[in-house]
Amino acid sequence: MSTLTQKIESMIWSGEADGWLDLLDQTLLPTQLKRIECRDVETVWEAIKMLRVRGAPAIGISAAYGAVIGVQTIKDDSNIAALKDRANEVIDYLATSRPTAVNLFWALDRIRATVDSWTDETSLMDAKAALLAEAKAIHDSDRQTCHAIGKHGCSVLDGVDGVLTHCNAGGLAAAEYGTALSVFFTAQDRGQSLHVFVDETRPLLQGARLTAWELMQRGIEATLICDSMAAQVMREGRIQAVVTGADRIAANGDAANKIGTYSIAVLAKHHGIPFYIAAPASTFDLSIESGDEIPIEQRDSLEITHGFGRQTAPDDVQVYNPAFDVTPADLIEAIITEHGLIQPVTTENVRSMLG
Ligand code: MRU
Repeated sequence: MSTLTQKIESMIWSGEADGWLDLLDQTLLPTQLKRIECRDVETVWEAIKMLRVRGAPAIGISAAYGAVIGVQTIKDDSNIAALKDRANEVIDYLATSRPTAVNLFWALDRIRATVDSWTDETSLMDAKAALLAEAKAIHDSDRQTCHAIGKHGCSVLDGVDGVLTHCNAGGLAAAEYGTALSVFFTAQDRGQSLHVFVDETRPLLQGARLTAWELMQRGIEATLICDSMAAQVMREGRIQAVVTGADRIAANGDAANKIGTYSIAVLAKHHGIPFYIAAPASTFDLSIESGDEIPIEQRDSLEITHGFGRQTAPDDVQVYNPAFDVTPADLIEAIITEHGLIQPVTTENVRSMLG
């Protein structure tokens, strides 16, 4: 495998409203750089479900484009009522792809608001163009958001050399810089040298396959560790801060992220290391008071018993495979958003930062 240095876009829209979504298949990384052309909504749904595209903001952006693709089945000689019905049908369908990352529902709500704004006088061409414009706006604003997170967040790394991250919250999981990795990329842009310890992130290895790869492409020193090594690495004094992304943050600051994040936060507390979450406003769900209400995705047991195609557990063993866990707000030193830092993490501070 060669180390690539070109900019990799995880999501590219080609053409106008009758175009298609080109996704980098993240399940094949880091050994294969293969793209999928999504020309029907089922292919987008499957790509989200199977983690070909993954990470909270990227799921939302892809679903928005998925809605644009889904309404292409309504031809321009049809009527606006049929287009509306189809749009609502594909929005509902895309919402069933994954349950935890609230960015999916946030993006689909924005698309639905566009659909709701259509009147009987709206032409089908204008309506479809408006859907694409909204999907592109979601995508474009995510780029700015990720850069703003990096700018606000890099101050927490002043004087820091070693950091730890979990799962993948980089450019593959969002637009361009990502969220947690944006903090590292921005620090690097400002001349800071960091040494990033990367949890491999069982069972699907987003850390090993994606984060280590992204960091290496950008020339950031990266050391891969098994998830179970984090305590030892902290104890050895190699880590001065932990930064991860999030999939849904409740009004009190409790944050759901990839399974294993909660353990890292507990370990960080024990070792006196600050634990930060980097996430955009679109990852907050202010309709829920605490993390207890966050739906946790349960995934196929084969991901544990037959990881990457090889059986590693006895036939018929019972398996529990929650894909996310919730880190309580009191373990989080600050939440880094595009608007600034929420610190300390309290309901009052979350609400005043996000309105
Ligand atoms: O199951 P995944 O790979 O979609 O989980 C992704 C994560 O947990 C990320 O840390 C989170 O979505 C933030 S991405 C900027």
